[in-house]
Amino acid sequence: MNIIPSEKMRNFTTGIFTELANRKQEAIKQGKDVIDLSVGSPDLPPPAFIVQALVDHARDTTKYGYTLKGTLEFNKAVSYFYRNRYGVQLDADHEVLQLMGSQDGLAHLAMAMIDPGDYVLVPDPGYPIYEASVALAGGNIYPMPLTAENSYLPRLQDIPQEILKKTKMMIISYPGNPVTALADQTFFEQVVEFAQLHNILVVHDFAYSELIFDGNPRISFMSVPGAKEVGIEFNSLSKTFNIAGCRIGYVVGNPDAVNILGTLKSHIDYGIFYPIQKAAELALTSDHSFLQEQVDVYQDRRDALVSGLQRAGWDVPKSAATMFLWAKIPGGWSSREFAFQMIEHGVAVTPGDAFGKQGEGYVRMALVQPAERLAAAAERIQAFLNSKAAPSLIQER
Ligand SMILES: Cc1ncc(COP(=O)(O)O)c(C=O)c1O
Repeated sequence: MNIIPSEKMRNFTTGIFTELANRKQEAIKQGKDVIDLSVGSPDLPPPAFIVQALVDHARDTTKYGYTLKGTLEFNKAVSYFYRNRYGVQLDADHEVLQLMGSQDGLAHLAMAMIDPGDYVLVPDPGYPIYEASVALAGGNIYPMPLTAENSYLPRLQDIPQEILKKTKMMIISYPGNPVTALADQTFFEQVVEFAQLHNILVVHDFAYSELIFDGNPRISFMSVPGAKEVGIEFNSLSKTFNIAGCRIGYVVGNPDAVNILGTLKSHIDYGIFYPIQKAAELALTSDHSFLQEQVDVYQDRRDALVSGLQRAGWDVPKSAATMFLWAKIPGGWSSREFAFQMIEHGVAVTPGDAFGKQGEGYVRMALVQPAERLAAAAERIQAFLNSKAAPSLIQER
């Protein structure tokens, strides 16, 4: 039998992470040690009280059925967290929806909002599900280039009017992945005005809301006047509390948009394991001292890697936030060439083009190893940059 995927599916190939994992396995088979900075999955443990809550609730054998949706207590915990951390008031009944990770919501939102012919403005480079979700919904992408020259903010004034007429949604993320920049209040205010003017739903991905360094402010898009009228914000416990595998996150904001996504979800999943919901509720309402400790750890890691790379002669800017460095590759190599060569030399990084056209010439490095390992990674990169192999890779672009 000839199994034929849908036309939409035909555009999807095996992801870059599979390719990197295969190459990494190959290098390990050859006896090499590879420091993996390619995937943004936290290596740090969750706080002990979260694990304890999970274990305690898991003992209750009456709680192994479908939960169907998030509990109101969870929504209230999100509302507490938003008030406490970002100064945002949320109606727990109508302005919060539990998700199986923010990925769940980001993946399904376009299906709930977009018809064929509709446009969605997406950041380039951007987190891959933004584009994939729109493609699966049959919508059109309009990439908004994020460049260092414009502080990685989209130039809203450059988007053509004929595109704006057909645009239903725009996705932004500050701090984002792979671009780790922050936006300020003024930019968010401009976004609200732009969305009102063009009748566009703003989707802010705030998955790294608690990994913000150097005392920079944590600005939720929802804290900006008028944001709730035009937008929603995705957030997650994955990176904030190191429970990425538990698959729990949420969306907040415009009650109509939240409700539309909730209606779609009621058709496709049966809710999150109750003990996970309870542990998450506790995490959100805990005293939050853990969050600053975690920021300090990531900030030390960032500093260790950046100074190591600087010693190697690679001037990589310090990320203002997130668990990544976004680095322009020296010497004019393509992202993939550099990433594949680096695996051979003992460090796995993600090629920037995996996040969009504007990512070509960059790599993303995840700070998911202890500071000593990151320093060792920088030394391996230095050895590679100084090696005889390097110049032969130089390409004119
Ligand atoms: C920018 C961004 N958004 C969303 C997600 C999805 O996270 P989760 O589904 O675990 O909440 C990730 C995961 O790496 C991410 O980097």
